[in-house]
Amino acid sequence: MDSIENKVIWITGASSGIGEELAYQLNELGAKIILSARRETVLLKVKNKCKYQDHVTILPLDLTDFNSLGIVTQKALKINGHIDILINNGGLSQRSLIVDTKFEVYQQMIDVNYLGTIKLTKHLLDHFIAQKSGHFVTVTSLMGKFSSPYRSGYCGAKHALHGFFDALRMEHEKDNINVSIICPGFIQTNVAKNALTGDGSALQKEDNATENGMPVNECAQKIISAIKKKRFETYIGGKEKFGIYLKRFFPRLLHKVVMNSKVR
Ligand SMILES: NC(=O)c1ccc[n+]([C@@H]2O[C@H](COP(=O)([O-])OP(=O)(O)OC[C@H]3O[C@@H](n4cnc5c(N)ncnc54)[C@H](OP(=O)(O)O)[C@@H]3O)[C@@H](O)[C@H]2O)c1
Repeated sequence: MDSIENKVIWITGASSGIGEELAYQLNELGAKIILSARRETVLLKVKNKCKYQDHVTILPLDLTDFNSLGIVTQKALKINGHIDILINNGGLSQRSLIVDTKFEVYQQMIDVNYLGTIKLTKHLLDHFIAQKSGHFVTVTSLMGKFSSPYRSGYCGAKHALHGFFDALRMEHEKDNINVSIICPGFIQTNVAKNALTGDGSALQKEDNATENGMPVNECAQKIISAIKKKRFETYIGGKEKFGIYLKRFFPRLLHKVVMNSKVR
């Protein structure tokens, strides 16, 4: 099992929720962390709440500003001279039926959740190859393994990440590069409030499942354990995790279960 101490870890989506909590816990464990998201002032607040602030650097970025991500990666590499782990956590959800959802919302889902993550990963890949080590940790979702109504664009983008990162793992095992895919279920964060509705505006309200989900500190602990063990894939949450096995062995039963659930 790998230690976290002194590792240089770059976290996207670090201004809120899972990424923010990972920042506190990884900092406490002695990692040198680089915190990225769009909102610089909020990142600064997260840094100020960290125990060892001299081990924290904030580096704002927008995952949809693809052309900026090369320069941002160069800046990230200069901070400590190298990077050991990239946690691709920044993301955006959706709550709207397909018939009510503008095409632009699908583009946004793919840009934030998929293409931005791929672009950042590709920029860092050359460094990991040259360094002969590196670990990509990508937070997808249980919605990257099976689907649910009201989340069609989000499910599509998260499924796509599995396709990409499973291939990356195979192509770069020879370079000592690891890939861990983290699939959370319902975790208590602002993910539902920030989710896009059919016209592209934010939902701005909590949903029941997220509100009653796993506390974010517990989720972050499980992610850190998966990182240390270099797990290929990890499922985190409550009973919604069983959807994985139903999908694999009894897909028609999963369909019925999801249709009968009150999840919106
Ligand atoms: N909570 C859950 O139940 C759950 C379940 C499954 C998967 N996940 C996944 O977990 C990850 C973290 O989400 P969360 O639950 O912690 O939600 P959250 O509280 O809404 O946090 C989302 C993070 O992503 C960042 N972000 C959004 N758009 C971005 C962009 N264009 N460029 C850069 N950063 C961007 C946000 O920061 P800024 O707004 O400052 O940019 C924020 O830091 C996401 O990938 C999400 O899909 C969450």
